[in-house]
Amino acid sequence: MSKKIIIDVMAGLLFVILLGYSFTGGQLHEILGILFAIVIIFHNIINRKWYSGLKKGNYSKKRKIVTVINIALIIDIAAIVLTGIISSRYLFNTGIRISIAVQTHAALALICLVLIISHILVHTIDFTKKSSGKLFVRGTVIAMILAVLLYTWMLPYVKRHFNTVKINCKEVIMGEHVDADNRNIVIVYFTRVGNSNFENDVDAVSGASLLLNEEDKLMGNSQVIAQMVGDAVAGDLVSINVEAKYPSSYADTVSVASNELKSGELPTLIEMPENLDEYDTVVLVYPLWWWTIPKPVEAFLKSYDFSNKTVIPIVTHGGSGAGDSVKDIKSVCNGTVIDNPLTIYCGDIPYCRDIVSEWLKEVFSVSDK
Ligand SMILES: Cc1cc2nc3c(=O)[nH]c(=O)nc-3n(C[C@H](O)[C@H](O)[C@H](O)COP(=O)(O)O)c2cc1C
Repeated sequence: MSKKIIIDVMAGLLFVILLGYSFTGGQLHEILGILFAIVIIFHNIINRKWYSGLKKGNYSKKRKIVTVINIALIIDIAAIVLTGIISSRYLFNTGIRISIAVQTHAALALICLVLIISHILVHTIDFTKKSSGKLFVRGTVIAMILAVLLYTWMLPYVKRHFNTVKINCKEVIMGEHVDADNRNIVIVYFTRVGNSNFENDVDAVSGASLLLNEEDKLMGNSQVIAQMVGDAVAGDLVSINVEAKYPSSYADTVSVASNELKSGELPTLIEMPENLDEYDTVVLVYPLWWWTIPKPVEAFLKSYDFSNKTVIPIVTHGGSGAGDSVKDIKSVCNGTVIDNPLTIYCGDIPYCRDIVSEWLKEVFSVSDK
């Protein structure tokens, strides 16, 4: 096999694996993304004659199509790399990871899929034959349909909104212990599971954010992260529980939460501890709701006295990072609130135990009790 073919096959394979973010997880996705960029650079070096010939000769119809596809592909891949670096959580960890970058990255990947298939078609179809034009158009249309299907089933952002993800709690939650420097820590979390009217049949639940453990029991993202923190620092775990449960449907919960924001009403909490006097540090784990803290978290923060306590926020989200949540915690809580929360994208929950430990070490080393 020639060098050219090996590089092309590698690029194709890597691209397909990269589309399956939800199967590889964030860390491997980023490593393979870099490998893909390197393979593409080699592809361009091997085919550099195309660049030097750009200004030479006449442009037939086929040559015009090839040129447009190739230039679009170069721009698209460059934009994918750029949005990938901006969204990076592991290798570059820019801390930017704004939802628009994540979504643009995913959309560009699908455009790239269509362009790659057109690029392959245009180079492999014999354009001297009469039917070649039709073949090219059909192939490109099929590629577009494929891209839409992938968007529905494979891409991480979308997939997480339709499927529950099965995890092995031991593997996902257990990890490195962190020296908490004699702090008395309570880990308080809010999550949809336990606070929603989920039906017994979990498949009927359309849920971003839902995980299933080995016993097929539902677990919320923030719950899993809270358990990771509990495993890392051996603190007590407290869940925030509402009296009036949220609907089982994700979409309905989104509208209920929107109404709560508009009305400003706080839900009634149940089964909460009388006070938090024995703790000097509160690790607060919550999902981002409408760019801020869920109302039950606000109700929790307004129910206790946090003076002389450090509040350490950890946010799970669908792409928006911490949104305005830390600012909003500060406005209702009189404790010392850590400014830079750990933000965890919902698709990364099963792969972030190490990040949780590393981040806790950093926070404990710079913050007072
Ligand atoms: C009512 C509601 C509003 C949400 N709003 C946002 C949002 O503004 N930005 C975002 O990135 N994710 C948003 N999400 C997604 C959640 O933050 C994300 O899925 C989170 O990990 C869910 O955690 P949980 O399983 O602990 O409930 C929202 C989810 C719900 C249910």
